[in-house]
Amino acid sequence: MKVVVVIGSSNTDMVVSTDKAPLPGETVLGSGFFMAPGGKGANQAVAAARSGAKVIFVTRLGRDVFGKTALANFERDGIDAAYVFIDKSEPSGTALITVDKKAQNSIVVAPGANRKLSPSDIKRAEAAIKNAACVVLQQEMPEETVEFAVSLAHAYKVPVILNPAPARKINKAVLKKVYLLNPNETEAFFLSGIKIAGKSSAKAAAAKLLRFGPENVIITLGSKGVFAAGKGFEMFVPAFKVKAVDTTAAGDTFTGGFAAALAAGKDFYDSVRFGSAAAALCVTKKGAQSSIPFLAETVRFLGSR
Ligand code: ATP
Ligand code: RIB
Repeated sequence: MKVVVVIGSSNTDMVVSTDKAPLPGETVLGSGFFMAPGGKGANQAVAAARSGAKVIFVTRLGRDVFGKTALANFERDGIDAAYVFIDKSEPSGTALITVDKKAQNSIVVAPGANRKLSPSDIKRAEAAIKNAACVVLQQEMPEETVEFAVSLAHAYKVPVILNPAPARKINKAVLKKVYLLNPNETEAFFLSGIKIAGKSSAKAAAAKLLRFGPENVIITLGSKGVFAAGKGFEMFVPAFKVKAVDTTAAGDTFTGGFAAALAAGKDFYDSVRFGSAAAALCVTKKGAQSSIPFLAETVRFLGSR
């Protein structure tokens, strides 16, 4: 069985529920507080593993209790942690999150050790990357690390899935080596300059992003679903109807679920449906990794629709 290699961040999320996120200079009272494992890379690794893929995760943790807990969690999810590096000087990544009563989140990340994930760390994982079904990346790590990993995977003709979150400028030469660019609406707007307000603007943004060079684009549109396009096809796949309580990690669950489905041999459309089902289940529970469903739950959910 081929593996999904996920490269990226691991954080501990500190979450407060509040009626509305504070404006600059404002203090608001929240209600519940909880901590949960998070980080875009780790969430995607967990989503792919719980969706049935064999996963190797490449990340950097601090030498602290958060790092120890994260490592134990990866092992519990059956994730191969051979390339989980422990940084001697930086703390593990943390994220401060507010979730409002519409289930929307606002996040500030202190990357810590994630900032030190380097091209030489990626080089150490070359054998895993070379044999992978696909490589999945996000942007809570240095730009040079993303660029090195994309080029390495591309050199071995391994499909690269890039979730460009958080948004930042991306070198066009990098986008040309990407199999799938998978932004949300905000990131798609940042990269394309086209504000997404519905299906037709999503279509225009996807067309513009495709001209930058990736083989395929999937823009996730929150509760509306996803718009996907590639050579000779485009599709709008509506989201599954659920009661959302916290959307944190919805995008990560989509990306990880999609990657696992693709690695298992599903076609593009079925992989989108699978990722959407896993993401819909994710928004019905609180937290990041605490809300990511297992294969049996997603299969059952898909079967009931
Ligand atoms: P995050 O909130 O983690 O930052 P994101 O902005 O990266 O998420 P979204 O576009 O909000 O990603 O959501 C990703 C996918 O999750 C959507 O395409 C959809 O399939 C699913 N999803 C998100 N919100 C809902 C919802 N309220 N109901 C059903 N499915 C949802
Ligand atoms: O995408 C959600 C994730 O973003 C959270 O788990 C948080 O850690 C930040 O990385």
